[in-house]
Amino acid sequence: MYDMYQLFLLGCSVAPMMDWTNNHFRTLARLISKHAWLYTEMIAAETIVYQKDNLDRFLAFTPEQHPIVLQLGGNNLENLAKATQLANTYGYDEINFNCGCPSPKVAGHGCFGVSLMLDPKFVAKAMSVIAANTNVPVSVKCRIGVDDHDSYNELCDFIYQVSSQSPTRHFIIHARKALLNGISPADNRKIPPLKYEYYFALRRDFPDLRFTINGGINGVDEVNAARTEGAHGVMVGRAAYHNPWNTLGHVDTVVYGAPHSDLSRRQVLEQYQVYGDSILGKYGPNRPNVRDVVKPILGLFHCEPGNGLWKRNADAAFQHCTTLKAFFEETLVAIPDSVLDSTVAEAPSSCIDKFANSKNLLPPPYTTSEQDILYAEMV
Ligand SMILES: Cc1cc2nc3c(=O)[nH]c(=O)nc-3n(C[C@H](O)[C@H](O)[C@H](O)COP(=O)(O)O)c2cc1C
Repeated sequence: MYDMYQLFLLGCSVAPMMDWTNNHFRTLARLISKHAWLYTEMIAAETIVYQKDNLDRFLAFTPEQHPIVLQLGGNNLENLAKATQLANTYGYDEINFNCGCPSPKVAGHGCFGVSLMLDPKFVAKAMSVIAANTNVPVSVKCRIGVDDHDSYNELCDFIYQVSSQSPTRHFIIHARKALLNGISPADNRKIPPLKYEYYFALRRDFPDLRFTINGGINGVDEVNAARTEGAHGVMVGRAAYHNPWNTLGHVDTVVYGAPHSDLSRRQVLEQYQVYGDSILGKYGPNRPNVRDVVKPILGLFHCEPGNGLWKRNADAAFQHCTTLKAFFEETLVAIPDSVLDSTVAEAPSSCIDKFANSKNLLPPPYTTSEQDILYAEMV
């Protein structure tokens, strides 16, 4: 367990993404990469507590999905404690706490998600409560700031307080700040600029902590470029979802030095079909339905010949197909056999210097002393 966790901290993970990194997508991701760490979408502590008779729907996963991290959201210590306890029986490999979501639904009401970055004391308490109720490591996922609270020192104060007042030793840094001025969550993942230099400065200033870099990392060559520059772990979100074959397909060889998967996309889909047809309607009439289960695979033929036609076929097939088997029989004719039957191509060998300049932009070292923080808390 410990060794696997160390490997994770130096490896590659798939980001938590609400409505995206559900069981369906994680099943697909695991068929493509055996080693990438998979994060669940954020699950609110309240959902777990109030749905405690229906937990499998939210928390169950197949053993193949290990290593897997549960991301919790919330702002109520009692519910976070109960949710962690209820999740324990499922055997997640880490519990992560969301301090980065800018959605007005999450951050606007009751200080949840990224708003919590403004209250590091609470985050430390929450992390202590989560850690006290689980035996697995805990981590925080956050941004580099919120609105005008975006200086490097403020970020460091957050990290310092949370890590010194709780057992948190691993932070995932989405390297852009969040704006709580009502822009959409999607814009909040585009408009604030990425500042990787803050990430590398944290690596410099908190040598005893582990930091995973996240934000705008678009392929395994960029994952490796970040690692070459000294990143501990690298988390990939949208690229893994929109282009899973080419992004995740190289992770095992390039990041973990493991052998190439010899599965073709046709074989991946055959296995996914078994999963998909077994889960249709499991949680009520049409829940999930064919469209829900197909959604995560719509990026599988990204940029390949036949992709456009396949998606048009899919739109038509959603109207009447009631099984994945029928869906594939009707739609996959659009994809050439050469695409369906080939395994993952050679990894890109390009040398990317995406992060090299960050080292020239490092902010001055963190200087705030513990006394300053204690004093600031008192006034
Ligand atoms: C559709 C979507 C849903 C997301 N949901 C979550 C979430 O539940 N929890 C979280 O911490 N971040 C969430 N994120 C943010 C991602 O985890 C990640 O930090 C962000 O997309 C930046 O990484 P990327 O540039 O590699 O996509 C979400 C992102 C997307 C695109």
